[in-house]
Amino acid sequence: MMGTGGLSLDQAPPIDIPARFFLTAPLFAIAAGLLLAWQGPTLLVSRWMPGALAATHLIAIGYLGLIMCGALLQMLPVVAGAAVPAVRLVGTATHLLLTVGAAGLAWGLAGSGPTLIRVGAGAAALGFLVFVIPVGIALVRARGAPGTLLALRTAALALAVTVALGLLLVAVLQGWIRVAEHTRWVDTHAAWGLMGWVGLLVVGVAVQVLPMFYVTPTYPAPMRRWFAPAVLVGVGAASAAWIMGADLVGQAVFGTIALGFIGFAFITLRLISLRERPRLDPTLLHWWAAMLSLCGAALAWTFAAPPTLIGVLLLVGVGVGLPAGMLFKILPFLTWFHLQHRQLGSGRFDLRIPHMGSLLSTRWARVQFGLHLLALALLAGSLWVPVLARPAGIALALSSLVLLLLLIGVARTYRRFAALLRPAPSRAGPQT
Ligand code: HEM
Repeated sequence: MMGTGGLSLDQAPPIDIPARFFLTAPLFAIAAGLLLAWQGPTLLVSRWMPGALAATHLIAIGYLGLIMCGALLQMLPVVAGAAVPAVRLVGTATHLLLTVGAAGLAWGLAGSGPTLIRVGAGAAALGFLVFVIPVGIALVRARGAPGTLLALRTAALALAVTVALGLLLVAVLQGWIRVAEHTRWVDTHAAWGLMGWVGLLVVGVAVQVLPMFYVTPTYPAPMRRWFAPAVLVGVGAASAAWIMGADLVGQAVFGTIALGFIGFAFITLRLISLRERPRLDPTLLHWWAAMLSLCGAALAWTFAAPPTLIGVLLLVGVGVGLPAGMLFKILPFLTWFHLQHRQLGSGRFDLRIPHMGSLLSTRWARVQFGLHLLALALLAGSLWVPVLARPAGIALALSSLVLLLLLIGVARTYRRFAALLRPAPSRAGPQT
């Protein structure tokens, strides 16, 4: 049995809210892959190439942002017992604004001009704002697993700083303001986005989800209590030092944070190896690949490897792979859970609801993982052998397409059964 201890399942939002985030997100990873397949090695010449900046935000906002926001809207009420105020309105507005924002900003950064950058950045920033305020309220009210909550609170804060810095960079690109040493501000924005928002969210999700889905031991108490705040304070201190030109201090603190994430990755892999469920399913394969990519990125940074390699390992290795693996579990779980709820409401106990494990084809999930690994290897290789860039883009687009088709399959099964499980008029319970 899955350990669902500590979860208040009754407070989950309607399933169509997280589902629309999850079903839109792979389209952005497909777009990033196609962009790479189209532009080829030029895109990876340097971190400043317009195509690289566009692909970065297709993944960072369109793919990762959508999945993480959808997962948080779902997770918060369930793990922390704190409902997000006006969740339907918040979900709809966030989804629309982030979708338009990611597309507009990426298109603009790819070279289509300052107007699109303005519109896209404005929409994305508004989307994150509409999301962060109610989620912040829910997080303040939340009671529940302290380790998870701490990581989620710090991640939300890091997101707010990332967006504020992103807007500042847009103002610089538009010529509205000037900053000394522009590159350092971009580094700082990237550090808050990747180490703060993405890194801490991964920590929060891991602390909650690994023991629940795989019956692993829990993370050590000091790690649950101190890691997230330490990363937050560290990123703050390191960025301040970096912007003020105190290079040694900045590098030392960023290095310490990188070491901390390596430690987190090793502990995660150790806990996975101690799990009570022996099967190595595709979700766990993604956890393995993502944790190794995380270590690779930290090592690459330590040995001053090209920034594009660090970006590839973090954005594709961790940022694209891990959410895909998590969705293999989260969407079937939600589907099964909401169908159970409907069954109670309809009284149709003659109908057998599909089991969680049968909702998504494991074979195709393995194919998806294989394509993802291929994309990652080709992408990393293309930094030395440029001709690999186009095949890497195609593999990235294909792996994301398979992910999308798998998720659509689960959603269709939900619709089919939900139609059969209409609540009986006399016993109609809350719609899920
Ligand atoms: C509203 C939200 C955001 C806006 C407006 C924004 C804007 C920008 C801009 C304008 C740049 C390019 C700076 C330049 O060339 O001068 C940039 C770079 C970057 N952004 Fe964002 N961004 C946003 C969100 C994010 C998020 C959420 C992440 C990560 C999770 C992220 C990761 C990055 C990275 C890694 C770079 C540096 C790319 C490189 O070094 O090549 N951004 N951002």
